[in-house]
Amino acid sequence: MEVVIVPDSAAGGELIAEAMADLLRRKPDALLGVATGSTPLPVYQALAAKVRAGQVDASGARVCQLDEYVGLPAGHPESYRSVVLREVVEPLGLDREAFMGPDGTAEDVPAACRTYDRALAEAGGVDLQLLGIGTDGHIGFNEPCSSLASRTRIKTLTEQTRVDNARFFDGDIEQVPHHVITQGIGTILEARHLVLLATGEAKADAVALAVEGPLSALVPASALQLHPHATVVVDEAAASRLKLGDYFRATYAAKPQWQGL
Ligand code: F6R
Repeated sequence: MEVVIVPDSAAGGELIAEAMADLLRRKPDALLGVATGSTPLPVYQALAAKVRAGQVDASGARVCQLDEYVGLPAGHPESYRSVVLREVVEPLGLDREAFMGPDGTAEDVPAACRTYDRALAEAGGVDLQLLGIGTDGHIGFNEPCSSLASRTRIKTLTEQTRVDNARFFDGDIEQVPHHVITQGIGTILEARHLVLLATGEAKADAVALAVEGPLSALVPASALQLHPHATVVVDEAAASRLKLGDYFRATYAAKPQWQGL
């Protein structure tokens, strides 16, 4: 696992957007897996700026969702479908056909989960999956004690995650759904490159446990330790509990430029 410590979230966004742009220059129809929440927004803004500046042609890109609330109407402004369309698909100028996500409104949720797992495989798999991390160590919505081999399925959010996400629902936890569909940890590990972005002091404990702690279902993000190409980008605040911070800084400073992320 590579850990890159950046000064702030804008620098993290720029670094990851450049990695996505690089991928699209090599593979114009790359499938980008996108997370929602606050953390990845600087990535999407930086990538859209590169498209507008003519630094990369994203017209062939494909985008897929990581997770979705169960029971929110698809058109609800906080459904992750709406968020990804608003924050990623539209700013990149992509058609809706370039976008795929699980159906959080399906009557048969297990069937919708299987359909989505199959659709990801049929699309050739995810080339680069961007991840955030929950304060409880979740990736996607794989809450603590999720199977490290799990596939896309329904999960119940922890109280902590519902408290954390209430800010998207007028601060009212009662409006935050209890259930979600999330790519499983096994599904996420099939992406060719995993990039986790974490910013802010509130993520420091989860980051330290994920990067330097034991591999454990209790900290789902620790599953990145199993992946042959995982990159963790953290700002100084999120890096503040890492024991190996100085080593990670020195390694990145000495990295040959041709390696990219
Ligand atoms: C949502 C997702 C979650 C978030 C995590 C952090 O699609 O994948 O794992 O990344 O809950 O959310 P923020 O970035 O809002 O702190």
